[in-house]
Amino acid sequence: MSKLSHAQWSSKMTFILAATGSAVGLGNIWRFSYLVGENGGAAFVLVYLACVALVGLPILVAEWMIGRRGQANPINSMLKLSKDNKLSPLWSLVGASGILAAFLILSFYSVIGGWSLNYTLSSVTGAASGFSGLDAEGVGAIFSGLLGSPGTLTLWHTLFMVLVILIVGRGVTKGLESAAKTMMPALVILMLVLAGYGMTTGHFGEAMAFMFSPDWSALTGGTVLAAMGQAFFTLSLGMGIMLAYGSYLGEDVNLIGTARTVILLDTGIALLAGIAIFPIVFANGLSPGEGPGLIFVTLPVAFGNMTGGALLGLAFFLLLTFAALTSAISLLEPTVEMLEERTALSRVSATLVGGIAIWALGLAALMSFNVWDDVLFFGLNIFDLLDTITAKFMLPLTGLGAILFVAWRLDRQSVTQELGLSGGTETLWLLVARFVAPIGVIVVFVNSLL
Ligand code: PHE
Repeated sequence: MSKLSHAQWSSKMTFILAATGSAVGLGNIWRFSYLVGENGGAAFVLVYLACVALVGLPILVAEWMIGRRGQANPINSMLKLSKDNKLSPLWSLVGASGILAAFLILSFYSVIGGWSLNYTLSSVTGAASGFSGLDAEGVGAIFSGLLGSPGTLTLWHTLFMVLVILIVGRGVTKGLESAAKTMMPALVILMLVLAGYGMTTGHFGEAMAFMFSPDWSALTGGTVLAAMGQAFFTLSLGMGIMLAYGSYLGEDVNLIGTARTVILLDTGIALLAGIAIFPIVFANGLSPGEGPGLIFVTLPVAFGNMTGGALLGLAFFLLLTFAALTSAISLLEPTVEMLEERTALSRVSATLVGGIAIWALGLAALMSFNVWDDVLFFGLNIFDLLDTITAKFMLPLTGLGAILFVAWRLDRQSVTQELGLSGGTETLWLLVARFVAPIGVIVVFVNSLL
């Protein structure tokens, strides 16, 4: 292999790592499993897979393409491409709404990142030396204790945000991303161990049926909307993040092939998380519909009752925190970049200002688990409200803007050429990007509003 092609290979690898680092996070493990449980299992899983393939993939490709052609931040890339193609500058709203969504998401994401940090410590120092010997009730009590204490939640949420701010402010995100090369496979191995443990519980079959044998009668418009929202959330779509990453992509990188790789990794990790978690849920008589606490009340039971569990528990929550951090830095980046460009703030001040604003909003989110649990908007507490507005509405709408722009507004020939498509594959792309993906998003919306 020549030196040049090796360099290209390694830059492509770096790109896949960065994109996967953003995509793989709490969404795959914490959010995916609790949504599967809350939405009745397999029907949700299958709709989610369909959304990832038919909506997620074309939108991921579209966002990267806009970034690669625009060579700038999301707003400026959209402005530039609109101008080049004589289109309305209003298209840049796609970039702006993405930045706002990332801002809102990080506020509650950091609260869960804080739970993960707290559990990293508890897995070695808990009252009963980690989770050792605890049953589901004991673990449940620890978790309720955490949720019931705004002070403790604030401490861990703050710690998590401080880490994110330090990493982004000092510009060391690259180092973190390359560490992902070892951390991510380690996380996968740990989940395989957990799935192996699940097989010994006698409830593995039940869990598999729950996840993969659908009861379509349970499917509602709300479930489909949740599945679509999860597809966007887990792939970091509709936030301008992938768009920003696209601006670093070399001309030679095959967008569709790369998107397939990132999506397979991301989806594989989510499915594995479900396979690891649900046997433990059923074996301990826990409710799959537990809600956002699902992994925090189930996994420690397994760690507390298996050989070497203390160490595995520590490693698991450490790796989960790490995965959460690599996603969180990609969520802070757009806000910081925008502040840096539009105000006189330096990088460090922009990171501080943006980070503190997000942290403050996170305080409101964490109080919805205790003192503000009765403060409801449209029947949702603040945490659920932030999650719902972003994942179910802002992300799909922004993503819709990106795919409509690429599929209908950019010169068709240059797009299919850039994607290396011709003949049958070109027709397939046009069918999916022009019709299936956008109509899918619109139908899911309309259906959920009815
Ligand atoms: N995709 C990340 C996850 O699954 C979360 C995230 C969303 C990160 C949006 C960046 C942008 O955890």
